[in-house]
Amino acid sequence: MSTSKPKASVLAGLDIGSTKVSFVIGTVNPDGKIEVAGVGTAPNTGIRQGVVVNIEATTESIKKAKEEAELMSGYSVSEVWVGVAGTHISSFDSKGMVAIKNREVTASEIDRVIEAAKAVAVPADRTVLHVLPREFKVDGQDGITDPIGMSGIRLEANVHIVTGGQSAINNTVKCVEKAGLKIAGLVLTQLASATAVISNDEKNLGVCVVDMGGGACNALYFVNGSVAHSSTIPVGGQHFTHDVAVGLRTPQFAAEDLKKKYGCAMASMVNENETIEVEGVGGRKSRVIPRKDLADVIEARAEETLNLIANDIRMSGLMPMLGSGIVLTGGASQLDGLVEMGEFIFDIPVRRGAPREIGGLTDVVKAGEFAAAVGLLLHALGQRKDLLHNQQQEVNLGESLDGITKKIKDFFGQIF
Ligand SMILES: Nc1ncnc2c1ncn2[C@@H]1O[C@H](COP(=O)(O)OP(=O)(O)OP(=O)(O)O)[C@@H](O)[C@H]1O
Ligand SMILES: [Mg+2]
Repeated sequence: MSTSKPKASVLAGLDIGSTKVSFVIGTVNPDGKIEVAGVGTAPNTGIRQGVVVNIEATTESIKKAKEEAELMSGYSVSEVWVGVAGTHISSFDSKGMVAIKNREVTASEIDRVIEAAKAVAVPADRTVLHVLPREFKVDGQDGITDPIGMSGIRLEANVHIVTGGQSAINNTVKCVEKAGLKIAGLVLTQLASATAVISNDEKNLGVCVVDMGGGACNALYFVNGSVAHSSTIPVGGQHFTHDVAVGLRTPQFAAEDLKKKYGCAMASMVNENETIEVEGVGGRKSRVIPRKDLADVIEARAEETLNLIANDIRMSGLMPMLGSGIVLTGGASQLDGLVEMGEFIFDIPVRRGAPREIGGLTDVVKAGEFAAAVGLLLHALGQRKDLLHNQQQEVNLGESLDGITKKIKDFFGQIF
């Protein structure tokens, strides 16, 4: 294992998925961009739909993935940003209002109004993960994204609050700590994925990002540049594999392999004459079948999964606000033909999302399955603006601004 000294500008992200744990280590380059330096993955059987069901297995997977990433990067890390997802997550809108002291909005008013919006009754068995501002109002004037310096008497904030189940979060924390790591921050997994795969333009136009994993699809909706809704649909890549195993009577590992290599969400896209070899179960001989038979099995599940997502979008009531359509990411989004079927089902633009705006080992993390882990680094960078300042001492505009303005700039950098 690496014995190199930890560097101040080294960040680590940990995505504890239901099929595998991904650990990504990155550094901040002089341009303020994340450079991926090391990646480690380990299969995980200790998570079901985002929730830890086996502490030992998950802890071991975390340790393994961490060591691999450390070895690859040459950095050792003691602190990590961790993704949290699953059906225990819930999110809702809230409002806060405060009087503006001295008739001008400052950072302290922003802090106070956010606190006021947060002061809604959050049950004791839930933890607040994020308070994401949607818009501010000054004396009733709405649609304000940056109220700093504005004059008025009353400041209001509309925020989106994300909470998670206390016990689910405690168990995740336990696994990370048992693996010898300190938690730098907990981040909603699909918020991290979205940070990695979509642009600000897409957020402004309205977009729904769906991280399609092994056990579940985690969705996040952006309207007018900020988070408006989140949801979890408990169907993922593992269900596709299970269908292939049952439908074609083949072992689970062979089904997984067939799905990834030859799977297609639209049977009509597959050449009728193509054939594939399917391994038999329990020592039975392998068979040669048309590839279209595999696609038929997968198509049924793809159609059902995409219809569940379409239903989620309809239920959210945000469909008319999704000008940029839908971005599918996560491992299961890599299935051939899924985007084509998505366009047909959703009737709005669909694209695949992969980590963007990063440097370093981009080839290793270019697939959607690394969106969450890479996104955790990007999210961390947004929270740790000090790293940027360390890197750019000479061109630090912040120094010339007075303390408060700087604090506010950082604050807005974090939330939008
Ligand atoms: N090329 C591919 N075609 C189809 N499916 C794929 C492909 N590559 C990966 N997958 C599927 O993606 C799933 C794993 O995705 P990912 O790594 O994003 O999940 P996870 O983060 O472990 O799970 P979750 O997010 O549900 O907790 C597996 O079910 C795998 O079979
Ligand atoms: Mg995942």
